[in-house]
Amino acid sequence: MSRYREVFEGKGGRFIIRNAEGTDAPRLFTYMDHVDRETVFLAREPGEFAESYTLEQEEELLRRWAEGDEKLFLIAETEGGELAATCGCFYSKGRRRSRHIGEIAVSVRQDFWRMGLGRRMMSIQLDWCREHQIEKLKLTVDTQNTRALGLYFSLGFQVEGKLCGEGKLADGTCQDVYAMAKFF
Ligand SMILES: CC(C)(COP(=O)(O)OP(=O)(O)OC[C@H]1O[C@@H](n2cnc3c(N)ncnc32)[C@H](O)[C@@H]1OP(=O)(O)O)[C@@H](O)C(=O)NCCC(=O)NCCS
Repeated sequence: MSRYREVFEGKGGRFIIRNAEGTDAPRLFTYMDHVDRETVFLAREPGEFAESYTLEQEEELLRRWAEGDEKLFLIAETEGGELAATCGCFYSKGRRRSRHIGEIAVSVRQDFWRMGLGRRMMSIQLDWCREHQIEKLKLTVDTQNTRALGLYFSLGFQVEGKLCGEGKLADGTCQDVYAMAKFF
Protein backbone atom coordinates (compact mmCIF):
# COMPACT_ATOMS: atom_id res chain seq x y z
CA MET A 1 0.00 0.00 0.00
CA SER A 2 1.18 3.51 -0.79
CA ARG A 3 0.03 5.47 2.27
CA TYR A 4 1.44 8.85 3.19
CA ARG A 5 0.53 11.71 5.51
CA GLU A 6 2.45 14.72 6.83
CA VAL A 7 1.89 18.25 8.05
CA PHE A 8 3.95 20.57 5.86
CA GLU A 9 4.90 24.06 7.01
CA GLY A 10 5.04 25.98 3.72
CA LYS A 11 6.29 29.52 3.21
CA GLY A 12 3.17 31.33 4.44
CA GLY A 13 0.85 28.44 5.23
CA ARG A 14 0.42 25.00 6.74
CA PHE A 15 -0.78 22.07 4.62
CA ILE A 16 -1.59 18.41 5.05
CA ILE A 17 0.05 16.31 2.36
CA ARG A 18 -1.49 12.85 2.07
CA ASN A 19 -2.79 10.15 -0.25
CA ALA A 20 -5.97 11.01 -2.09
CA GLU A 21 -8.86 8.74 -1.04
CA GLY A 22 -12.06 7.89 -2.91
CA THR A 23 -13.94 10.49 -0.86
CA ASP A 24 -11.68 13.25 -2.27
CA ALA A 25 -13.15 12.79 -5.77
CA PRO A 26 -15.67 15.68 -5.67
CA ARG A 27 -13.02 18.13 -4.46
CA LEU A 28 -10.61 16.90 -7.14
CA PHE A 29 -13.12 17.73 -9.86
CA THR A 30 -13.33 21.30 -8.51
CA TYR A 31 -9.54 21.52 -8.19
CA MET A 32 -8.80 20.20 -11.71
CA ASP A 33 -11.33 22.58 -13.23
CA HIS A 34 -9.70 25.47 -11.34
CA VAL A 35 -6.07 24.70 -12.28
CA ASP A 36 -6.93 23.92 -15.90
CA ARG A 37 -8.37 27.45 -16.18
CA GLU A 38 -5.32 29.22 -14.75
CA THR A 39 -2.49 27.65 -16.75
CA VAL A 40 -1.90 26.33 -20.27
CA PHE A 41 0.87 24.06 -18.97
CA LEU A 42 -1.32 21.12 -17.97
CA ALA A 43 -2.50 18.51 -20.46
CA ARG A 44 -6.19 19.45 -20.58
CA GLU A 45 -8.42 22.24 -21.86
CA PRO A 46 -10.70 23.71 -19.15
CA GLY A 47 -13.67 21.40 -18.49
CA GLU A 48 -12.04 18.34 -20.06
CA PHE A 49 -11.35 16.58 -16.77
CA ALA A 50 -15.06 16.45 -15.89
CA GLU A 51 -15.83 15.28 -19.45
CA SER A 52 -13.37 12.38 -19.14
CA TYR A 53 -14.53 10.79 -15.86
CA THR A 54 -17.72 10.38 -13.89
CA LEU A 55 -17.58 10.99 -10.16
CA GLU A 56 -17.99 7.24 -9.55
CA GLN A 57 -15.10 6.40 -11.90
CA GLU A 58 -12.86 8.93 -10.19
CA GLU A 59 -13.77 7.59 -6.73
CA GLU A 60 -12.98 4.06 -7.85
CA LEU A 61 -9.65 5.13 -9.40
CA LEU A 62 -8.56 6.97 -6.25
CA ARG A 63 -9.55 3.99 -4.07
CA ARG A 64 -7.59 1.62 -6.32
CA TRP A 65 -4.48 3.83 -6.29
CA ALA A 66 -4.60 4.19 -2.48
CA GLU A 67 -4.87 0.42 -2.04
CA GLY A 68 -2.31 -0.52 -4.69
CA ASP A 69 1.46 -0.21 -4.77
CA GLU A 70 2.12 1.13 -8.26
CA LYS A 71 0.94 4.70 -7.87
CA LEU A 72 1.32 7.34 -5.19
CA PHE A 73 -1.23 10.09 -5.77
CA LEU A 74 -0.67 12.89 -3.28
CA ILE A 75 -2.84 15.87 -2.52
CA ALA A 76 -2.05 18.91 -0.38
CA GLU A 77 -4.90 20.54 1.49
CA THR A 78 -5.12 23.69 3.56
CA GLU A 79 -6.20 23.55 7.19
CA GLY A 80 -9.61 24.66 5.92
CA GLY A 81 -9.81 21.59 3.68
CA GLU A 82 -9.20 23.34 0.33
CA LEU A 83 -7.13 21.45 -2.25
CA ALA A 84 -3.91 23.31 -3.01
CA ALA A 85 -1.85 20.84 -5.05
CA THR A 86 -1.62 17.33 -6.47
CA CYS A 87 1.34 15.17 -7.44
CA GLY A 88 1.06 11.71 -8.95
CA CYS A 89 3.80 9.19 -9.64
CA PHE A 90 3.45 5.70 -11.06
CA TYR A 91 5.25 2.70 -12.52
CA SER A 92 4.15 -0.73 -13.81
CA LYS A 93 5.45 -3.76 -11.93
CA GLY A 94 4.06 -6.14 -14.54
CA ARG A 95 6.45 -5.04 -17.29
CA ARG A 96 9.90 -6.43 -16.47
CA ARG A 97 11.70 -4.41 -19.15
CA SER A 98 10.31 -1.10 -17.95
CA ARG A 99 9.44 -1.52 -14.29
CA HIS A 100 12.55 0.53 -13.40
CA ILE A 101 10.89 3.57 -15.00
CA GLY A 102 8.45 5.88 -13.22
CA GLU A 103 6.45 8.86 -14.44
CA ILE A 104 5.50 11.93 -12.47
CA ALA A 105 3.24 14.99 -12.79
CA VAL A 106 2.63 17.91 -10.44
CA SER A 107 0.26 20.88 -10.19
CA VAL A 108 -0.15 23.62 -7.61
CA ARG A 109 -3.06 26.08 -7.49
CA GLN A 110 -1.81 29.56 -8.33
CA ASP A 111 -2.88 31.01 -4.92
CA PHE A 112 -0.34 28.64 -3.36
CA TRP A 113 2.62 29.02 -5.73
CA ARG A 114 6.09 29.76 -4.30
CA MET A 115 5.22 28.30 -0.89
CA GLY A 116 7.39 25.23 -1.33
CA LEU A 117 4.56 22.79 -2.10
CA GLY A 118 5.80 21.72 -5.52
CA ARG A 119 9.29 21.01 -4.24
CA ARG A 120 8.05 19.17 -1.13
CA MET A 121 5.62 16.94 -3.03
CA MET A 122 8.21 16.09 -5.69
CA SER A 123 10.72 15.24 -2.95
CA ILE A 124 8.28 12.84 -1.27
CA GLN A 125 7.80 11.16 -4.64
CA LEU A 126 11.56 10.87 -5.22
CA ASP A 127 11.81 8.99 -1.88
CA TRP A 128 8.90 6.77 -2.95
CA CYS A 129 10.75 6.01 -6.22
CA ARG A 130 13.91 5.02 -4.33
CA GLU A 131 11.85 2.71 -2.07
CA HIS A 132 10.36 1.08 -5.17
CA GLN A 133 13.72 0.59 -6.94
CA ILE A 134 12.77 3.00 -9.70
CA GLU A 135 15.95 3.95 -11.56
CA LYS A 136 14.63 6.50 -14.01
CA LEU A 137 11.86 9.02 -13.37
CA LYS A 138 10.47 10.83 -16.39
CA LEU A 139 8.12 13.67 -17.23
CA THR A 140 7.30 16.08 -20.03
CA VAL A 141 7.16 19.84 -19.63
CA ASP A 142 6.28 22.72 -21.95
CA THR A 143 9.50 24.37 -23.16
CA GLN A 144 8.04 27.76 -22.02
CA ASN A 145 7.23 26.60 -18.49
CA THR A 146 10.13 28.33 -16.72
CA ARG A 147 8.72 27.76 -13.21
CA ALA A 148 8.45 24.01 -13.63
CA LEU A 149 11.80 23.83 -15.45
CA GLY A 150 13.45 25.67 -12.51
CA LEU A 151 11.97 23.14 -10.11
CA TYR A 152 12.92 20.09 -12.18
CA PHE A 153 16.50 21.19 -12.87
CA SER A 154 17.02 21.91 -9.17
CA LEU A 155 15.86 18.37 -8.34
CA GLY A 156 18.35 16.78 -10.73
CA PHE A 157 16.22 16.23 -13.83
CA GLN A 158 17.91 16.64 -17.21
CA VAL A 159 16.52 17.29 -20.69
CA GLU A 160 16.57 14.15 -22.86
CA GLY A 161 15.05 15.71 -25.94
CA LYS A 162 12.53 18.09 -27.41
CA LEU A 163 9.21 16.97 -28.87
CA CYS A 164 7.65 19.45 -31.26
CA GLY A 165 3.92 20.15 -31.57
CA GLU A 166 3.01 17.78 -28.73
CA GLY A 167 0.13 19.99 -27.68
CA LYS A 168 -2.27 22.32 -29.49
CA LEU A 169 -4.22 24.99 -27.60
CA ALA A 170 -7.81 25.95 -28.42
CA ASP A 171 -6.53 29.00 -30.38
CA GLY A 172 -4.35 26.73 -32.55
CA THR A 173 -1.03 27.57 -30.89
CA CYS A 174 1.30 24.55 -30.92
CA GLN A 175 3.23 23.56 -27.82
CA ASP A 176 6.69 22.00 -27.77
CA VAL A 177 7.73 19.95 -24.75
CA TYR A 178 10.96 18.68 -23.28
CA ALA A 179 11.21 15.04 -22.30
CA MET A 180 13.04 15.16 -18.98
CA ALA A 181 14.35 12.43 -16.70
CA LYS A 182 16.09 11.97 -13.40
CA PHE A 183 18.32 8.93 -12.95
CA PHE A 184 18.76 7.48 -9.45
C1 LIG B 1 5.58 24.55 -11.49
C2 LIG B 1 4.87 24.47 -10.14
C3 LIG B 1 4.50 23.01 -9.87
C4 LIG B 1 5.81 24.96 -9.04
O1 LIG B 1 5.16 24.76 -7.80
P1 LIG B 1 5.44 25.71 -6.53
O2 LIG B 1 4.77 25.10 -5.36
O3 LIG B 1 5.11 27.11 -6.86
O4 LIG B 1 7.02 25.55 -6.40
P2 LIG B 1 7.91 25.76 -5.11
O5 LIG B 1 7.38 26.90 -4.29
O6 LIG B 1 8.07 24.46 -4.41
O7 LIG B 1 9.27 26.19 -5.78
C5 LIG B 1 10.09 25.21 -6.27
C6 LIG B 1 11.10 25.75 -7.26
O8 LIG B 1 10.48 26.06 -8.49
C7 LIG B 1 11.33 26.98 -9.15
N1 LIG B 1 10.55 28.17 -9.49
C8 LIG B 1 9.37 28.57 -8.96
N2 LIG B 1 8.97 29.69 -9.57
C9 LIG B 1 9.90 30.00 -10.49
C10 LIG B 1 10.04 31.03 -11.46
N3 LIG B 1 9.13 31.98 -11.57
N4 LIG B 1 11.12 30.99 -12.27
C11 LIG B 1 12.05 30.01 -12.16
N5 LIG B 1 11.99 29.01 -11.26
C12 LIG B 1 10.91 29.01 -10.44
C13 LIG B 1 12.46 27.35 -8.21
O9 LIG B 1 13.53 26.47 -8.47
C14 LIG B 1 11.83 26.99 -6.87
O10 LIG B 1 12.76 26.73 -5.88
P3 LIG B 1 13.19 27.88 -4.80
O11 LIG B 1 11.93 28.38 -4.17
O12 LIG B 1 14.07 27.12 -3.87
O13 LIG B 1 13.86 28.94 -5.62
C15 LIG B 1 3.60 25.39 -10.13
O14 LIG B 1 3.99 26.68 -10.53
C16 LIG B 1 2.47 24.92 -11.00
O15 LIG B 1 1.71 24.04 -10.63
N6 LIG B 1 2.31 25.50 -12.22
C17 LIG B 1 1.17 25.19 -13.08
C18 LIG B 1 1.07 23.74 -13.48
C19 LIG B 1 2.37 23.24 -14.02
O16 LIG B 1 3.05 23.93 -14.77
N7 LIG B 1 2.72 22.00 -13.66
C20 LIG B 1 3.89 21.35 -14.18
C21 LIG B 1 3.57 20.70 -15.47
S1 LIG B 1 4.99 19.90 -16.18
